[in-house]
Amino acid sequence: MKPLNQKTQRLTDSVIRRMTRLAMEYDAVNLSQGFPDFDPPQFIMDRLKEVATAGPHQYSPTWGNLNYREALAKKLTHWMGIPIDPNRNVLATVGSTEAMMAALMAISNPGDKVVIFSPYFENYYAQSVFNSIEPVFVPLDPPAFTFNGDLLEAAFRDPKTKAMILCNPSNPSGRVFTREELQFIADLAIKYDVIIITDEPYEHIVFEPYKHVYIASLPNMWERTICCSSLSKTYSITGWRLGYIAADKPLLDECKKMHDFLTVCAPSPLQEAVIPGLLAPDSYYKGVQDHYTHMRDLFTNGLREIGFNFTEPQGTYFMMVDISEFAHGKNDVEFCEEMVRKIGVAVVPGSSFFKEDVNHLARFHFSKKDETLYEALNRLADIKKM
Ligand SMILES: Cc1ncc(COP(=O)(O)O)c(C=O)c1O
Repeated sequence: MKPLNQKTQRLTDSVIRRMTRLAMEYDAVNLSQGFPDFDPPQFIMDRLKEVATAGPHQYSPTWGNLNYREALAKKLTHWMGIPIDPNRNVLATVGSTEAMMAALMAISNPGDKVVIFSPYFENYYAQSVFNSIEPVFVPLDPPAFTFNGDLLEAAFRDPKTKAMILCNPSNPSGRVFTREELQFIADLAIKYDVIIITDEPYEHIVFEPYKHVYIASLPNMWERTICCSSLSKTYSITGWRLGYIAADKPLLDECKKMHDFLTVCAPSPLQEAVIPGLLAPDSYYKGVQDHYTHMRDLFTNGLREIGFNFTEPQGTYFMMVDISEFAHGKNDVEFCEEMVRKIGVAVVPGSSFFKEDVNHLARFHFSKKDETLYEALNRLADIKKM
């Protein structure tokens, strides 16, 4: 057989999904792959039942059902503070995953470079490889996960740098970038003519006193930002595969061409069923924030009592935990695998998110029912015996 695609040789299977498989094998509490073990809001499930009989069940227009785009545009106009036109500025996608892929395909040529903070969400590397783009990693230094402005500017200064991928709030670090940090990035983007591709699935999972600022809303940034996001986390519907791109028309039109031939459309009945969520009042989002604050407090208090050191998450439902005290010389991969087998809790080795040689961290996630978090903490209490 002739050689298959060389790009895939550069990829290993997803470490996160590998840990999930191990979790299933050992009946472990799975705190690796990031999805809730609780139901979506009842009012969205009720609408889903109605849609099951009323439809639509066929392809939606490739850009998304008009209902979906109108509801989304209303929500985004409110939260981003940017007037979003449902016909010119939004595209329904198959999750943020497809949104990011379509955006990268739309803006890049082979050999272009894209700046990515490290640690990073694993999709970004794979999607860069698929597009023959070279990722340029700029460290977010643990434990505070802040960046060095000079290093970032050096990455932007390279004439081959076409874009930066900005995940905010940030998976896996739990960082929520400040307005000042975002302004610094925006100034570089303008100075060096670089496009920002955001990935903002956790925009509503931010803990007080931190605030999510959309970089697209900073002066002169709308025209150079492709906002990718997801409904997976805000409405606890990771399996529905709904997301979107919001952007200025010239950028969005290019993304639309890619999307059209990648997926045809996002799931049409589910676009319809999620509309009550998109139109929900501010109190819904306050409820999401309160619920996640509760889970964060329950879990971080428990970890603290056991003796774990970690970076307090500012947003998302992920946190980076220092495992060095319990690892007894093992690297993070060995440690996490042993933890599944002996303790029965699955987390993700931190090194899978870093470009740099960092192997004393693990990513834990806490989007779980109270009883699941208590069970995980009970099991983790034995960590010193491992
Ligand atoms: C940062 C980040 N981006 C994108 C995704 C995937 O989003 P979606 O389900 O919308 O494809 C995830 C899922 O965990 C994520 O953490």
